[in-house]
Amino acid sequence: MRKIAVLGAVVLLVGAAAWLAHPHFVAQAGEKAEKAEEHGYIGAASCKACHSKPAKGEQYVKWQNGPHADAYETLLSEQSQAIAKEMGLEQPAHEAEACLKCHVTAHGVDPELLGKKYDKADGVGCETCHGPAKDWKITHMRDVEKAMTQGMIEPTEELCLTCHNEESPTYKPWDKEKKFAAVAHPNPQNEEE
Ligand code: HEC
Ligand code: HEC
Ligand code: HEC
Ligand code: HEC
Repeated sequence: MRKIAVLGAVVLLVGAAAWLAHPHFVAQAGEKAEKAEEHGYIGAASCKACHSKPAKGEQYVKWQNGPHADAYETLLSEQSQAIAKEMGLEQPAHEAEACLKCHVTAHGVDPELLGKKYDKADGVGCETCHGPAKDWKITHMRDVEKAMTQGMIEPTEELCLTCHNEESPTYKPWDKEKKFAAVAHPNPQNEEE
């Protein structure tokens, strides 16, 4: 009698495991993982208040005076309009997928993920390189490791090369050291350590 009960339990367990491994459950887990990747964007303006102090490297100011903050505006220039025409694009440069994909943060992202301060006119903003910040805006001040699980990313050379490549109609040869130096915004307090 006892043996039969044990056998019955084993059969039940194997059955339950097979049921959980059913494609339906696996697909659900996959969808959840994908949803977790969809973090909201809050816009470069959301970083300004805390990242403008000279003593800490005034990242916002450096970004604004650098090339990336003008990336959208560039698409409004005569040069850009001419490039778009030459490429036979149906839309002007500042409306064309073929240009916006590298000149604007979060282009093509579900509009529901874009916060009130998100502005495409900010061009290539902080969140292009540091990740969509809605979920880590507070956490990252103390716990960068945790922020990394909430959408924060480490800006690597590979990331730069997703835009700095020959698909750019005005491509200039890549030189890692020079290009990083040209847009650097370190916190001097960290360098002294
Ligand atoms: C409420 C203030 C506040 C806001 C808003 C804020 N930060 Fe920060 N951030 C900090 C503080 C504090 C640190 C720790 C270093 C320091 O004191 O500057 C930090 C550190 C960082 C770091 C360095 C993390 C590391 O590796 O040590 C990055 C990158 C960063 N912030 C990016 C951003 C971006 C991008 C935004 C806007 C989306 C933003 N921050 C908004 C306060 C803020
Ligand atoms: C989302 C696309 C994108 C990413 C990612 C990106 N850039 Fe850029 N970058 C641009 C665009 C677009 C311009 C041109 C802006 C303009 O002139 O209006 C530019 C311009 C520059 C320039 C000035 C022009 C030049 O080529 O010398 C430098 C330097 C630069 N980026 C460095 C970097 C570095 C370093 C990284 C990675 C840490 C990086 N960029 C990541 C799109 C990007
Ligand atoms: C693959 C990403 C990418 C695409 C797509 C792209 N750009 Fe750019 N664009 C860049 C980068 C990166 C730079 C900085 C210069 C470079 O290419 O190294 C740049 C710079 C520029 C500049 C400034 C050039 C200068 O010498 O100062 C103009 C103008 C421009 N792009 C127009 C356009 C137009 C118009 C389109 C669409 C037809 C477009 N770009 C599509 C990445 C891209
Ligand atoms: C083109 C990509 C790019 C953009 C745009 C960008 N950053 Fe960064 N940021 C970097 C890189 C690369 C580093 C150096 C990371 C490292 O040291 O590992 C960095 C470092 C930082 C740090 C840490 C500095 C330190 O020394 O501790 C802060 C804070 C920061 N960025 C804030 C910002 C803010 C705020 C904005 C927008 C106003 C911004 N970044 C825009 C690429 C970018």
